[in-house]
Amino acid sequence: MNAIEFDPSGNTFEALRHTERPRPDPGPGQVRVRMRAASINYRDLSIAWGTYPSQQDAPFIPLSDGAGHVEAVGEGVTGFEKGDRVVNTFSQVPPDGPPSAARQPLGAPLDGTLAEYQVFHESGLLHVPDTLSMEEAATLPCAAQTAWHTLFGAGRPVLPGQTVLMLGTGGVSIFALQFATAAGARTLITSSSDEKRERARALGADETINYERTPDWHEPILDRTDGRGVDCVVEVGGTGTLGRSFQAVAPEGKIGLIGVLTDADQNPNPQMLMQRRGHLHGIYVGSIDHPRDSFAAMNAAIEANDIRPVVDRTFALEEAQAAYQYQADQAHFGKVVISI
Ligand SMILES: NC(=O)c1ccc[n+]([C@@H]2O[C@H](COP(=O)([O-])OP(=O)(O)OC[C@H]3O[C@@H](n4cnc5c(N)ncnc54)[C@H](OP(=O)(O)O)[C@@H]3O)[C@@H](O)[C@H]2O)c1
Repeated sequence: MNAIEFDPSGNTFEALRHTERPRPDPGPGQVRVRMRAASINYRDLSIAWGTYPSQQDAPFIPLSDGAGHVEAVGEGVTGFEKGDRVVNTFSQVPPDGPPSAARQPLGAPLDGTLAEYQVFHESGLLHVPDTLSMEEAATLPCAAQTAWHTLFGAGRPVLPGQTVLMLGTGGVSIFALQFATAAGARTLITSSSDEKRERARALGADETINYERTPDWHEPILDRTDGRGVDCVVEVGGTGTLGRSFQAVAPEGKIGLIGVLTDADQNPNPQMLMQRRGHLHGIYVGSIDHPRDSFAAMNAAIEANDIRPVVDRTFALEEAQAAYQYQADQAHFGKVVISI
């Protein structure tokens, strides 16, 4: 089968190369999927740059997120049959391990989704919502689940009428904007691009701020919330933005600490979080105890509210390097997809 392999000795996108591998066979409880699309997360860029905390030595198939058609099922599989449209969860039982083995992320350390075929334990698959294309479904496992869990799983769920702040217009933030809008929240979003701010507005954003022209963006956030701040911050920036998120959060509001997009050496002062009795939640994709239930609840909301993931651009399998570069250039709004 055709696949893309990343050679970790490279540490550049040029180390993404076409390879031929044997088509994997499904063992007991496993499902072979003809992958149709995969999507890129910032994590995948970070792995390729060699900056992700855990690194691999041997070449591996990258990307954690994908969707495809069931092509064959192993002995004892009850939840899926040939032809089903499926999407995978971010973490999976290792293909050679027992079903009780600890789940690990795809796209390092486990081989990922950027291949014509992949084998998953059935506990690591869900049916694709009828309303979504394969390209749209391939965006869900990491970015959408992270946004969903931040809003509704971590701490107190966001309620209609509350305010939610998203930082930037990448994959996690745009899903959070869509989910928060559907939940009846008032949404505020920052971006370095006025054109992307317009796109966010068209998706339902109530307030937009250019964080490059207004580096102290917490001030307009406070102005536009009558000095109160926001009930939830979707914090994808990390230490470079966290200090301002502490300033922007409302009394007893929450911050989902998700990302590392900014300089890791800064030292944000948490005093305002303390004074406002705010809650800081570390987020790692979806629910730790019930990842599949959380994914299923999100899919139900996507279907009921006709939420369409924002696929900015789709690349072909042989354009994987260009797809990575497009996302690294932050040219995208929402998600970048590779069709397989
Ligand atoms: N903890 C977890 O489970 C988890 C899960 C998913 C992602 N993450 C992390 O969350 C972050 C976002 O991931 P992603 O896949 O959504 O990334 P992405 O799609 O690559 O997002 C990139 C966008 O982030 C925005 N951005 C960059 N620097 C910013 C800054 N200083 N302030 C505000 N926005 C900024 C830019 O938006 P504009 O172009 O609009 O300026 C940029 O286009 C990454 O650090 C990633 O590692 C963590």
